[in-house]
Amino acid sequence: MADGSDFEFAANSAPVSAEDRAAMLTEPGFGRVFTDHMASAEWTEGRGWHSARVMPRGPLSLDPAAAVLHYAQEIFEGLKAYRTETGDTVLFRPDANAARFRKSAERLAMPMVSDDLFIGAIEALVKADRDWFPAGPEGALYLRPFMFASEAFLGVRPAKEYRFLVLASSVAGYFKGAPKAITIGVSRNLNRAGPGGTGAAKCGGNYAASLVAQAEAIEHGCDQVVFLDAVEHRFVEELGGMNTFFVFDDGSILTPPLDGTILPGITRDSLMTLARDEGVVVREERYAIDQWQADAASGRLRESFACGTAAVVTSIGKVVDGDTSFIIGDGGPGPVTQALRERLVAIQRGQSNDPHGWLKRL
Ligand code: PLP
Ligand code: COI
Repeated sequence: MADGSDFEFAANSAPVSAEDRAAMLTEPGFGRVFTDHMASAEWTEGRGWHSARVMPRGPLSLDPAAAVLHYAQEIFEGLKAYRTETGDTVLFRPDANAARFRKSAERLAMPMVSDDLFIGAIEALVKADRDWFPAGPEGALYLRPFMFASEAFLGVRPAKEYRFLVLASSVAGYFKGAPKAITIGVSRNLNRAGPGGTGAAKCGGNYAASLVAQAEAIEHGCDQVVFLDAVEHRFVEELGGMNTFFVFDDGSILTPPLDGTILPGITRDSLMTLARDEGVVVREERYAIDQWQADAASGRLRESFACGTAAVVTSIGKVVDGDTSFIIGDGGPGPVTQALRERLVAIQRGQSNDPHGWLKRL
């Protein structure tokens, strides 16, 4: 069984030159700049995890009958490593990502990955590619652990061979042009996930299912799509890649409950904890799209925001719902949203105390 301590290391013999790397890190955007290495391990029925190594990042050799290419047995995670002002490298709540990865694996009938293997792979990779942290207030190394069914077999059943990989990507902000507040489009007809489905798992299939609605929202000038519940088509669930929060005039905040159709976001959980630390009333309740519009119009709703590892905390300024649209607050970032963002980011970047022990120093 591979654990965090036995990653073999095969250095990239043709790494990106320091000059090219500096150019790539100037404006990395999101998800386009990749580092020199990747971590990898394999699982075979009867043998378990083996062949753990950090190796040059490059194309994979995959049998065209690999089950993932046919039945989408694939899961992934997203977390960030930060370089602090004192030069330390830290991960934010990697144990929470490891736990969610196991939940996703269980839902997709895949093997378990221990904390040791999950965090050990990340640590080994970040150490190998420590020169890839972009500067700038949003700069981070985005880690993408993922696992897929590699067995060549066309029968429909859980595969007997898997590959676990971790990529590292140098990133800045998620949204192009770093908008102060985003516009989101409501998906009235297309659902992301339904009861009993895979909505709470972080599997590629959920994202495939979200793409048409997202493309439609973008065609209508929006930055993201918001999905409603698949039964009544009324209750706000989440965005294509982020959870949502609502801030009211009485100071309370609300976020949709974890009913199995949305991703249990680690940013969502962290923000609820930070808000409660400060005495804010946090409710996990369903919130109807029509109510959202009515509350925005009456002023009862003051702010809304999206949150996630990639998006951090981003205000929602406008909602487009078919032919109608509504503005939240003055359409810009609200004070509660900004304060929560600053509090979270200060912890993530080691600029303030870490009362919940969320940072793991490498
Ligand atoms: N919801 C979806 C669909 C996501 O893809 C993400 C991003 O990972 C989130 C919510 C937020 O999760 P987290 O805060 O753990 O990044
Ligand atoms: C993340 O925030 O880690 C995600 O997976 C969401 C995606 C928009 C990149």
